[in-house]
Order: sequence, then C-alpha cells, then structure tokens
Amino acid sequence: MHVVFAASECVPYVKTGGLADVVGALPREMAHLGHRVTVYLPYYKQVREHVPEKKPVIRSLTIPFEYYNRFVAILDGGIHDGVQFYFVDCPELFDREAPYGTETSEYADNWERFGLYCRATLEAAKQLGVPDVFHVHDWQASMVPVYLRTVYYYDSALRNAGTILTIHNASYQGWFPPETTQHLLLPWDLFTVDGLEFYDRFDFLKGGVVYADAITTVSRKYAEEIQTPAFGSGLDAILRKRASDMHGIPNGLDYTLWNPATDHKIAAHYTSDNLAGKVECRRDLLHAFGAAHISETTPVLGIVSRFATLKGFDLIAQIADRLLDRDLFLIVLGTGEPYYEGLIRTLQERFPGKISVHIGFDEILGHKINAGSDIFLMPSHFEPSGLNQMYSLKYGTVPVVRATGGLDDAVEEWNPETRTGTGFKFYGYNPDDFLAAIDRALDIFRNDKAAWTTIIRNGMAKDFSWKKPAAEYAALYEEVARRRS
Ligand code: ADP
Ligand code: GLC
Repeated sequence: MHVVFAASECVPYVKTGGLADVVGALPREMAHLGHRVTVYLPYYKQVREHVPEKKPVIRSLTIPFEYYNRFVAILDGGIHDGVQFYFVDCPELFDREAPYGTETSEYADNWERFGLYCRATLEAAKQLGVPDVFHVHDWQASMVPVYLRTVYYYDSALRNAGTILTIHNASYQGWFPPETTQHLLLPWDLFTVDGLEFYDRFDFLKGGVVYADAITTVSRKYAEEIQTPAFGSGLDAILRKRASDMHGIPNGLDYTLWNPATDHKIAAHYTSDNLAGKVECRRDLLHAFGAAHISETTPVLGIVSRFATLKGFDLIAQIADRLLDRDLFLIVLGTGEPYYEGLIRTLQERFPGKISVHIGFDEILGHKINAGSDIFLMPSHFEPSGLNQMYSLKYGTVPVVRATGGLDDAVEEWNPETRTGTGFKFYGYNPDDFLAAIDRALDIFRNDKAAWTTIIRNGMAKDFSWKKPAAEYAALYEEVARRRS
C-alpha cells in the first residue's frame, strides 16, 4: 500500500500546533507497518532553514490559474525513518515570514497558496508515484480530493486513488470569496450548498468533506461532537450526511520525542518507578522562569497553549484573580490573540511572584513545563484531540481539563474510593466549575501525597502510543483502496 500525506505542517520542519506533531509521527508509524509512505509539504521559509540545499526531482510543473500559470519545482527532502519527503517549491508563495500569515492577519492569497500546493501534489504524484490513498489533513490540503474528483476526473493515472480527509479542527475552514471557484479553475456548479459553498463563501474544508472517500477526526468524542450544531462550526449537517464514512481515530504520541525517560530537552530523566528526576525538572523549570524561590510545598501549575478563546482563555481570565490568590505558582507559555497576550502580561504585573509568563513559541520550554509542573491546565471550550493533556500525563503532571473532545477521552477523573483516575475534569463551561476542579487537585496535592503519587503513576501508565491508532488508519486505507479498485 502506498499512502501520500498532504498537510501544511510537520515536525521537525514546520510547526504551529498539534497537526505538525501528528504528521511528524503517523507517516513513520505507517512506514514501520510496511507501507510505502510519502509526505508532501510546502517549501516554506521554515522548511528551507531546515533543508537549505535544493535537490529538485521535478524541475518545473505548470500550475494553471484563471489568468496565468505558476511554475513550481518539487524538491527531494530525502527518506527519513522510511518516509519519503518532497517539498513543493514556489518561493513567491511560500518563502515568507510565517506559514499562514502575519500577527494581525492571514495572507490574503492563502487560497492560491494552498490551491497550488494541492494541485502540485497531484501533478507530482503522477510522476513520482500515484498512491493507493491520499491522506489529506485540514483545509489547506482539502483541494486534493476536490481536484481529484472534478478537474482530474478523467485522468486515468489518478482515478483509482482513494482519499481520506482528517479534520483536526473544524473551526478552521479556509473561507474565501466565491470567485475563488474560477480562480482555481473549478467548475461553478461546485459552488452550491451541497458542494463547497458556505454562506456565499468558498469553503476549502467543506470541499474536502464532500469529496473525500472517508473522513476522520482526531478523537472519538469529537467525531460525535462535530456532527452537532454546537461543535460542527456550520458543517454539522454535511458531516451528518456523511456519517457512515466518518471515523474517530484518536491521536497517538511520538514517544521518541515525548518521553521523560529519554527526552533531551528536560533537565533530568525519570520513570514512574523513580520520580526523583521530576523534582529536578521542577527546579529547572522554576529557574528558567525566574522563580527559583518557590517552595517545594507550593504547587506549580503550567499552561502551554495558543492564546485563543477556544483554548479557554476567557475562563482563565475570569478565574485569574481568585486563582492567584491561592498558594500556588502559575507558569504560562504561549502566543496568539493580542488581547489575551495583553491580559496575561497584565496578570504578571499585578501578581508578581505568583505567575511567570513567556510569550512566544519555544519547544524546549514546552517540554520543560510538561515535565516540571505539578498540574497542567487545559480548560478548552472545545478540543478535537489536544496533545498536551497526553504529554502531561506521560510526564507525571496531573491535568485539569474541560470534559470535551480528546480531553474527555484522555483524562479520567480521580476516584478516591477505587483509587483510579488520572486527573480532574469539569463539564460546564463556566469559571466556577473550572476553579472547583483546580481546587480538587490542589486539595489532594497538599493533603494526601500518597493519593497524589497514585494519580501521577496512573497517568504515566497510560498507553498513548501510535500503535493502535496507526492500525486503525491502516485498516481504513485498505477499505478505501478496496472501494476504489
Ligand atoms: P493545537 O494544535 O490546537 O494548538 P494541540 O494540543 O494539539 O493543540 O497541540 C499543540 C502543540 O503545540 C503541542 O505540541 C504543544 O506543546 C505545542 N505548543 C503550543 N503552543 C506552544 C508554544 N507557545 N511553545 C511551544 N510549543 C507550543
Ligand atoms: C488541531 C486541534 C487539536 C489537535 C491537533 C492535532 O490543532 O485543535 O485539538 O490535537 O489538531 O490533531
């Protein structure tokens, strides 16, 4: 079986969120299972910095638009852990400061950037190997199934290839003006409510939902939620139509990068049998955040997140004063909406000695917070999968999460009677329930060390490896390929 991955992010080349972690790990797992796997990525500035030497395997592909052609090269990124990487090189579109936009707005030509990326992936595959299945991710890769089943419908080289769309977050859909249809040389009859029209906008993700052979999302809970008006971001009706082709396959963790027994980014290694290294990681974390004075009995709470309302920052804002009144220390790492950046900075000024903040994207600090905190906060409004709650469990840091999507699937509420459970959850999206869940955690941290250690060990014992999810994807690849043959 040959699978081509099309996605807009992949570690170690380019990352803005969890998508990059998934695309960095799943292809390798599939290669381990014996499949031939190819990944196509845009050759962004960030990718170029990783792989500066250009090795073209296709010197020029013509990608037509309504009034002009663009020319792209396909670069060989080499084979790593059995996975072949190719980069779509079009400097005028991809060699820019950031993958999607500036701090204040998305690039206006993202329709062109990702339309071109999708068409170039199909054209390149015709020369470098047509797969049994194109596994495409999020709106940026959603034109692959759309082109395949429309413009390329009569292309005999491509027609037997199947397509799977994985939705990592339905609230990012890629909306553009209606004329995008003709700019991308797609027939206007696609621009209907059953096609990729969404309230008079051209909707990339909706196109993927309509034309992919199968659709997956990244947790079982979110696969149900996304089919309801509250979580579907307007796509719930079209997703319900496709319910028989929908699958919830939970994300795994890349234990080669995220494992406290081997992680190179943390101060000391540890396992659930010997947590001594975690104490050292805590010390190192506090040092890194200028808080070496914090006593051992004061709990350290960590947050690593995009600053966005969907990540629960409105709740954090609402509980901040009451939270920081308690005996604890809060560490925050993130970037995002300027409003929340300002708010978090203000908290640091108002509560010196109670909170330390780093505004920015910093992989090493991210690992340090997962390892060195006592408690990890993730109060997301919704969360398709969420990786940080699983990282924190693996690192013996007890998560407090809102019971939604992958957070609800991954974390089990602590039960003092049965001594089972891995963390603390709240259901209603309101500040009081969030604070109550934090207080349940703080109470045990302070008053029952034996129970606390049991919670830590329960979490560390959970298996979030890619083994099972990869087998589920493999079965789906087989099914989709069978349907197309
Ligand atoms: P999302 O993709 O919605 O942002 P996930 O929990 O799936 O949420 O993944 C976020 C990923 O990005 C995790 O690997 C997390 O550690 C990382 N991350 C988020 N913000 C930062 C940051 N400011 N610095 C370093 N890593 C970050
Ligand atoms: C998206 C989701 C996040 C998920 C990640 C990887 O960014 O918001 O919940 O973990 O994709 O699937």
